[in-house]
Amino acid sequence: MSISITELEAIVRAAGAIALTHFNDLKNLAVNKKSPRDLVTDADVAVEAFLKATLTEKCPEYGFWGEESGQSANQFARWVVDPIDGTHSFSRGQYFWSISVALEINQEMIIGAVYAPALNDYYTAEKGKGAWKNGLPITVSSESNLADTMVATGFACLRSYLTDNNLERFGRIAQKTTGQRRFGSAAMDLCLVADGQVDAFWEQELNLYDVAAGALIAQEAGATVTDFQGNVGIYPKQILVTNGKIFDEILLLM
Ligand code: IPD
Ligand code: CA
Ligand code: CA
Repeated sequence: MSISITELEAIVRAAGAIALTHFNDLKNLAVNKKSPRDLVTDADVAVEAFLKATLTEKCPEYGFWGEESGQSANQFARWVVDPIDGTHSFSRGQYFWSISVALEINQEMIIGAVYAPALNDYYTAEKGKGAWKNGLPITVSSESNLADTMVATGFACLRSYLTDNNLERFGRIAQKTTGQRRFGSAAMDLCLVADGQVDAFWEQELNLYDVAAGALIAQEAGATVTDFQGNVGIYPKQILVTNGKIFDEILLLM
C-alpha cells in the first residue's frame, strides 16, 4: 500500500479545511438538488475534487469512486469517498457532518477514515489493527439490556419513496429502547457505535460511499455489521450495526 495512515490523515484533514472554508461562508454557498430530497453544494464538489486529485496522484494504482463524480479507473482497488456526509446538516450550519474515505481492495475495506471537521473528531481504522478516535483506541459499548440502550437511524428510504420506509421499524424499536437519535450523517452514526456513544445503528437505501469507512471502523471496534437478516457483511441497502451484546434482541425487531 503506497500510503500510510498518517499520510491519509493529513490529506483528509486538508479536505476538512476546504469544507470549513465553505461552512464558514454559508451565505455564499450554492446549494443544488440532485433529486427532490437530495442536496449537493459547492463544498461537496470542491472537497471531492481535492480528494480525487490528491489520492490518485499519491496512489495512481488505485481507482476512485466518489459520490459526486462517480467511478473512474481501477474499481478492483479503489478509494470510496463521500466528500460531505450530512450535506443537509452542513448547508444549515449544523456541526454533524463528515468526510468519509475508505480504501477498498477486492471488495474488502482496508483503511477507513471519517473526519468531522466542525467537531474536530477524526476516526480511523486499518483492517485487523483496531479503531481509533483522535489517536486513542475506541471500542463499542458494554450495554447488554436493550431497554437501556440508545440507538440511531436514518431515513434514506424516504428519499427513495420506498414503501418499507423505516417508520414502522423505528416505532417498534423506539418502544423497546430508552433513547433514539437521527444525527444526519450515516458515516458518523457508524463511528458513534464504534466509540460506544450509541449501542446500535440501522438504515436502508444507503450507498457504499456512505458506509464504507464507518463500517470498517465499527468492525474494528468490535461491532457486528450485518444486514437486517443477520448476514455478516457491509450491505448499504440494509445495514445494521450493533455493540454485539444486543444484536440478537434487536435483530428480532428489524
Ligand atoms: C446522507 C446522510 C444521512 C442519510 C442519508 C444520506 P449525504 O448522506 O448519510 O444520514 O440518512 O440517506 O444520503 O447525502 O448527506 O451524503
Ligand atoms: Ca452520504
Ligand atoms: Ca455526500
